[in-house]
Amino acid sequence: MKKIARTLFILSAFIFFSSICSAEAPDHVAITNDTDCQNCHHQKKKEIRHDFVKSWTESAHSSSGVTCIKCHLKKGLGQADFYKAFVSQKKDEAHSFVVKNPGSQEMRADFIDICGGCHRDKLSEFKSSVHGNARLKNGRGVSCIDCHDPHRAAAPTSDKSSKLYKGEDLKTCGKCHKDMLASYMNTFHGKQLTLGNSLVPTCNYCHIGHEPPKENPDSVLHANNVGNLCAGCHGDSITGGIGADSMMIHNLNKESTGKVIHYQDPVSFGPFSIASFINSSYFVLVIGVVGFFTLLSTRDYMKKTKGASRRRKTGESDKRMVKRFSLSWRLQHLFWASSFILLAISGLSLKYPDSIMSGIIVKVMGGMAMRSSIHRVAALVFIITAIVHVTPYILKLKSPRNMLLAKKDFLDALLHVSYLFDRTDKMPLMGRYAWYQKLEYWASVIGACIVISTGILMWGFEPFIKLVPLPLLHYAQMIHGWEAVLAVLVILVHHLYHTVLNPVVFPMDFSWLTGKTRYAVMEHEHPLELMDIEGDKSNNPHTDKLETLD
Ligand code: HEC
Ligand code: HEC
Ligand code: HEC
Ligand code: HEC
Ligand code: HEC
Ligand code: HEC
Ligand code: HEC
Repeated sequence: MKKIARTLFILSAFIFFSSICSAEAPDHVAITNDTDCQNCHHQKKKEIRHDFVKSWTESAHSSSGVTCIKCHLKKGLGQADFYKAFVSQKKDEAHSFVVKNPGSQEMRADFIDICGGCHRDKLSEFKSSVHGNARLKNGRGVSCIDCHDPHRAAAPTSDKSSKLYKGEDLKTCGKCHKDMLASYMNTFHGKQLTLGNSLVPTCNYCHIGHEPPKENPDSVLHANNVGNLCAGCHGDSITGGIGADSMMIHNLNKESTGKVIHYQDPVSFGPFSIASFINSSYFVLVIGVVGFFTLLSTRDYMKKTKGASRRRKTGESDKRMVKRFSLSWRLQHLFWASSFILLAISGLSLKYPDSIMSGIIVKVMGGMAMRSSIHRVAALVFIITAIVHVTPYILKLKSPRNMLLAKKDFLDALLHVSYLFDRTDKMPLMGRYAWYQKLEYWASVIGACIVISTGILMWGFEPFIKLVPLPLLHYAQMIHGWEAVLAVLVILVHHLYHTVLNPVVFPMDFSWLTGKTRYAVMEHEHPLELMDIEGDKSNNPHTDKLETLD
């Protein structure tokens, strides 16, 4: 009798396993009368978690005969109980062998042994890994099923349905390592990933889950190896000289590399760090400068709209134009402004990758690779324009006289501000460039020096890594971004106000295109320059001195 029963069991088990093995892309398992739990559980009912069975049927476990009972039965069952659980068609009977809550804390710990019972090499790897002895805040350890879906049993890095597949690993690891996830998302890599660059490394590129502690010389994160990690992607362009690996290692094999790579500030003094110093200084600067100019523009607008109807009448009836800007000046402005706009749009979308606008901008630009190219081409135009602009001054072909700040500008500024706030009713008489235009000009000279130098550092990061420590690159990125924010906001509240919204020139001061400004506007905004021009013309009506005035 016993023999027959055993033969029957082996036979039915064989039929069952072979029916699963031969099933081609099974949507549901071929059901025989005495297959195990799936007989009930294959049915598409939400309440019995059909999705688990479905993913199991498609898994490596299913095709290798790792059935439900291999994982779900209570500990210490005998052969006979296994068989009963395997063939039972009654729910209560079947369930009497089944662990009540397989996701519970104690079961999670048990699964280390259950999974490890078959995956022996992984078990020993895991036990000596950072997670093998790790404890969470609630005291429980890390289990295989925290990182692997038991039913899907997907190949970790090559199967898209895996919880560890590129992109998915952020959620899986980030569940426990919230701070690391947050700081990773702040890195250049993280931001690129958010906007769709799939070439960047995610957690599992650098961490391999069962990794040994980083003190272990075999760990990819060991100080001697970590440079190779980056060189895998950043190596190509720098292998020419000393060897990419040595450069990265040279730079990264210090105590704090992980912090740099995770974008946490490695250089800190007590509660302060350089990064937070940069952030708070720029924050104050942006609020202060933008606030100041917003206030001035608002007051200016209020004062001008009061007398607007009168002024507009005189302004509009007066069709006379005054030539102010040479062609070379206008071309410089055009290249400068258009490259600035492109730089701002393409750059800020990377600085703020989570915003909806950024997603749209990157799409319109044709993807992340195009975004990078556009940013760099625009940067070249920006730099060349700057060089073209300063060369004549450096070669002393032109005098910067017009642009230099003089004592008069400080007095003008005081008087103008008092005028705007009704402290006096005398508006200062301003020349070719008003004090606030000079201020804007010199601020943009300093700003350009900052963005160009930090930008070059970022662009040439691979060759520069030999010369500068990685933290410096990290600060360069921060400063580059902040400076851009400052520039864009000042342009919006100050420059665009004066050239577009300003009631005296509204709808726009077209002098950037035509080189000419309306006589009435000149009278109001640049009376001293107008006097110069008038004086010149009356002295010699045939010379157009204006072409040389910039
Ligand atoms: C006769 C049908 C039937 C059989 C056979 C069966 N189950 Fe179930 N099972 C159910 C139903 C229905 C539920 C839905 C929850 C409930 O009503 O208890 C369920 C729920 C479960 C749950 C979830 C428990 C919960 O609280 O959410 C697990 C785990 C489970 N079954 C495992 C198994 C395993 C393992 C086997 C095979 C040893 C098995 N079942 C055999 C019908 C069955
Ligand atoms: C490789 C081991 C393994 C196999 C094989 C397996 N399971 Fe599971 N199952 C688990 C683990 C582990 C959990 C708990 C998952 C969690 O909470 O993250 C689970 C959870 C479940 C749950 C949900 C229980 C709940 O309380 O929410 C159901 C239902 C279930 N499994 C049914 C099945 C069925 C039916 C089969 C066979 C087709 C099967 N499982 C095969 C390991 C396995
Ligand atoms: C009864 C033995 C057995 C148990 C228990 C078991 N596995 Fe497996 N597992 C296998 C076999 C066999 C394969 C398929 C062959 C292979 O790829 O190693 C497999 C495959 C896998 C794979 C896919 C590997 C790949 O590269 O495709 C993962 C991941 C996996 N198992 C994780 C787990 C986890 C997590 C558990 C515990 C919840 C577990 N296994 C429990 C036997 C088992
Ligand atoms: C912290 C997350 C994590 C935990 C916990 C974890 N693993 Fe893994 N496991 C991974 C990652 C990541 C990989 C991929 C490694 C690679 O491909 O280099 C992997 C790979 C595997 C593979 C497939 C190896 C291959 O070559 O295809 C198996 C099988 C596996 N783990 C089983 C287990 C078992 C069993 C446990 C529990 C003892 C466990 N894992 C615990 C993250 C984890
Ligand atoms: C269930 C929670 C959990 C999950 C999921 C998890 N970890 Fe961990 N991990 C821990 C705990 C707990 C430690 C112990 C050190 C600590 O407290 O940070 C640890 C430690 C580490 C360490 C070493 C820290 C050190 O101080 O040396 C690394 C690296 C790491 N995990 C990476 C990962 C990666 C990559 C993943 C995703 C594949 C992952 N972890 C998934 C909980 C988790
Ligand atoms: C899987 C490939 C890969 C690995 C590995 C990798 N990176 Fe990157 N990294 C990228 C990509 C892609 C970019 C974005 C390049 C672009 O389009 O501007 C990038 C950009 C960067 C940047 C910004 C460059 C700039 O223009 O400012 C820095 C800094 C950087 N990586 C540092 C590192 C360091 C340090 C490591 C090693 C810990 C590393 N990367 C590993 C793919 C990788
Ligand atoms: C570009 C490679 C890279 C990527 C991507 C990456 N890490 Fe790291 N990670 C490192 C290096 C290198 C170290 C630390 C080595 C050191 O400190 O010497 C580290 C350290 C850690 C640590 C330990 C921190 C400590 O206190 O020592 C944890 C935890 C961690 N990473 C989790 C993650 C998680 C989660 C992700 C994904 C969101 C991730 N890492 C992405 C390279 C990376």
